[in-house]
Amino acid sequence: MSGHETYQPQNAFMKWMERRLPIAGLIYSSFIVYPTPRNLNYWWTFGGILTFMLAVQIVTGIVLAMHYTPHVDFAFNSVELIMRDVNYGWLLRYVHANGAAMFFLAAYIHMFRGMYYGSYKEPREILWILGVILLLLMIATGFMGYVLPWGQMSFWAATVITNLFSAIPGVGEAIVTWLWGGYAVGNPTLQRFYSLHYLLPFVIAGVVVLHIWALHVVGQNNPTGIDPKSERDTVSFTPYATIKDAFMLVCFCIVYAWFVFYMPNYLGHADNYIPANPAVTPMHIVPEWYYLPFYAILRAIPNKLMGVAALGASIAILAFLPWLDTSRVRSANYRPLYKQVFWIFVAVCIGLGWLGAKPAEGGYVIAARILTFYYFFHFLVILPVLGWVERTKPLPNSISESILTPARSGSGTGTVT
Ligand code: HEM
Repeated sequence: MSGHETYQPQNAFMKWMERRLPIAGLIYSSFIVYPTPRNLNYWWTFGGILTFMLAVQIVTGIVLAMHYTPHVDFAFNSVELIMRDVNYGWLLRYVHANGAAMFFLAAYIHMFRGMYYGSYKEPREILWILGVILLLLMIATGFMGYVLPWGQMSFWAATVITNLFSAIPGVGEAIVTWLWGGYAVGNPTLQRFYSLHYLLPFVIAGVVVLHIWALHVVGQNNPTGIDPKSERDTVSFTPYATIKDAFMLVCFCIVYAWFVFYMPNYLGHADNYIPANPAVTPMHIVPEWYYLPFYAILRAIPNKLMGVAALGASIAILAFLPWLDTSRVRSANYRPLYKQVFWIFVAVCIGLGWLGAKPAEGGYVIAARILTFYYFFHFLVILPVLGWVERTKPLPNSISESILTPARSGSGTGTVT
């Protein structure tokens, strides 16, 4: 353990401060001496990476907003101005645009980590649900940000997605007109998207505070899925977790920088370098890669209302995961069948993503229907039933035992001795 259990102010000023606003004490107890399971592997570093990405997006976004003009007549050109005339504007924009993609990449890894190790199970349900809310907020923020450059894809993505609300019986049309601020996607739409795109990241930051608060109440899960029982099972957050988080963050930033400096437009769509034109519909309207699995689910259903309902349900169902998975064992390391089902589910999500980028015709639609069916089948049938019928492996008595006697620790925990 690093030093004292409780914060000891080092000088007169910190003593004075601590009696009035004990921020240093809070940081000390939450990020220095906080007991962390000693067997955490690198999959536990993505929460920190996500926090870093949120900060990057907010900082670059604020500077971009100083040069961007939220008006249909100027938006496209103001982005070109940022790229060409603003000092390091090209860098700011590429860091922000690719940052959105890296943010989602980290979020998906973070979520699948949670699914593999059962981090959503009792007592972490609220923590998980706050995560699902964060995902929803990220989806909304990313979508509105994509509209701002006012290119062809921006305009048509805004048109297609906002039009989905028209499927709601009775009030659908009224909702769409209200969202647009008129009778088509236009200047009022762009301005409100700009306003919300600026606001939502701060809402996300607020929910992240709740997310981490909830985490500190219940403590971190770990690759064994069993709770720490003694001091031997934990280490202090600093330096053990901090150094690991920092190392992975550097690796992550190398990949991020690779995109920013070597292929900054690889993840985007060429059509978004054509100014928005309501009179010309692009051949294929494709969202960014991180929305593709949901887009495939939307298009797999022939009926518009049902498609929109399936899209909403595919995200909402995540919130019920803590109750749909009936197994008492958390970690997939001790659940041989679940481990296989988990990887099938990952493959299905990747398959849906691939199909989301394909035209909605012929075999692609049929494949998307099969995978969409499987997506819901996984949550509604496989998980509840598997929890009842699966024969799980014996759990170690403690985290430290799982490290010291690897034979009983399950495979691939990435634990260190
Ligand atoms: C802005 C997005 C997010 C941020 C900044 C964030 C941040 C964090 C941090 C710092 C941790 C602790 C470190 C770690 O376990 O990696 C954490 C844990 C966790 N997060 Fe997130 N998170 C975000 C999104 C999500 C999402 C989308 C979900 C799931 C739907 C989620 C579910 C969880 C769970 C279950 C844990 C506990 C993991 C464990 O202890 O095993 N988070 N998050």
